[in-house]
Amino acid sequence: MIVEISPVATTDVDAVAALARVVWQDAYPGIITQAQIDFMLEQRYNAPRLLQELATPDIWWDKAMLDGQLAAFASTLPTATPGEMKLDKIYVDPARQRHGLGGRLIAHVSARLLARGGHTLILAVNKRNERALAAYRKHGFTLREAVRVDIGNDFVMDDFIMEKSLG
Ligand SMILES: CC(C)(COP(=O)(O)OP(=O)(O)OC[C@H]1O[C@@H](n2cnc3c(N)ncnc32)[C@H](O)[C@@H]1OP(=O)(O)O)[C@@H](O)C(=O)NCCC(=O)NCCS
Repeated sequence: MIVEISPVATTDVDAVAALARVVWQDAYPGIITQAQIDFMLEQRYNAPRLLQELATPDIWWDKAMLDGQLAAFASTLPTATPGEMKLDKIYVDPARQRHGLGGRLIAHVSARLLARGGHTLILAVNKRNERALAAYRKHGFTLREAVRVDIGNDFVMDDFIMEKSLG
């Protein structure tokens, strides 16, 4: 299995949005409602927004290609704390989960952050997303705090913030 990690390109936008839907439909039913899944996918993966983020140097979009096919992606953005970034998205094709791709992406982003003088990676994960919680613990994240964020349309993100010190 040949894995290649590289930046997401503007030509990848449709494939990223399509993979996001596949992963979300596999991961989130039972955790959030279908209405919230549809709302959040539209809010976060519409083409203009993805293209705008790709054009923003402080936002890192990375993809993992497995045997030439898009298998996973991640995006990372700065927080208000110097030296800290948030792993805002990390999604692996359900058929490719639990084979180390998520860990590879986390390592890739961590190395880049360290090389640029950063020290901490954080993320938000739904409190009931047991598989992701297990993955993040395995990859060195610990609990920082619990948050509830109103995202509009009566939807709430009921999350844990996790953190990982680098280096
Ligand atoms: C969470 C996610 C990014 C992890 O990436 P991954 O490539 O599957 O994970 P890795 O292979 O690097 O690490 C494997 C670990 O993740 C956890 N894990 C991943 N999939 C799992 C599953 N189906 N069941 C149980 N644990 C699972 C386990 O801790 C596993 O370690 P183990 O195999 O030694 O028990 C990926 O599974 C995913 O996209 N999940 C669905 C979407 C999601 O929840 N994304 C995170 C949003 S915050």
